[in-house]
Amino acid sequence: MTNRGPLLASLGLVIIGVVAGGMSTWVWSKTATQIAVNERSYRLRALNEIVPPARYDNNLFDDIISIRDRELLGSDDPVTVYRARNDGAPVAAILTAVAPKGFSGAIHLLVGVYADGTLAGVRVSMHRETAGLGDQIEIEKSNWITVFDRRSLADPLPANWFVRKDGGEFDQISGATITPRAIVKAIHDALLYFEANRELLFAE
Ligand SMILES: Cc1cc2nc3c(=O)[nH]c(=O)nc-3n(C[C@H](O)[C@H](O)[C@H](O)COP(=O)(O)O)c2cc1C
Repeated sequence: MTNRGPLLASLGLVIIGVVAGGMSTWVWSKTATQIAVNERSYRLRALNEIVPPARYDNNLFDDIISIRDRELLGSDDPVTVYRARNDGAPVAAILTAVAPKGFSGAIHLLVGVYADGTLAGVRVSMHRETAGLGDQIEIEKSNWITVFDRRSLADPLPANWFVRKDGGEFDQISGATITPRAIVKAIHDALLYFEANRELLFAE
């Protein structure tokens, strides 16, 4: 009589391997899905801080375009724009612009511009600035970033779209001028882009 023990043991190991592999793939895909859901809800919260949901009636994630302008949007990569509309009419465009010259590299922004060219608001979505210095640009750390609310290309005038240290109107952060300087320029550039490309930004 042949000894089937080793064969059965090998078969058992194969089955365990297949089941374990399948389970880890399932867990991985569930986790990836959950991460995507969390990221989307985090992003929506930030977008709604900039443009209150009562002001628009479309789904921002279904009304996205990608644009590219290295000089004015701060990145070689395409930049996402979320469009808010009410009854089909343009309400605001939120540009994911980049301030390339932060103290520790690129600072990623959400720059919300109402259809009339005034700033709805700005939030920092990613940065590597120093804790206790440059990180005061985060709304969770200070309200410095709200100084841009309702500003526009005409307010302040172009000569004053700088931090105070450079002769402009915007407060720098104490001991950390490089970070605010980069952000002021990036927001002004995003407004210039908006002004020059308003039709494209709201095109269906
Ligand atoms: C360890 C370290 C970290 C710093 N981090 C930042 C920063 O995140 N953002 C910033 O603007 N300046 C930062 N600075 C300060 C800059 O080197 C620079 O002195 C400052 O931005 C100039 O601002 P001030 O003209 O107001 O002094 C840091 C300096 C040191 C020594």
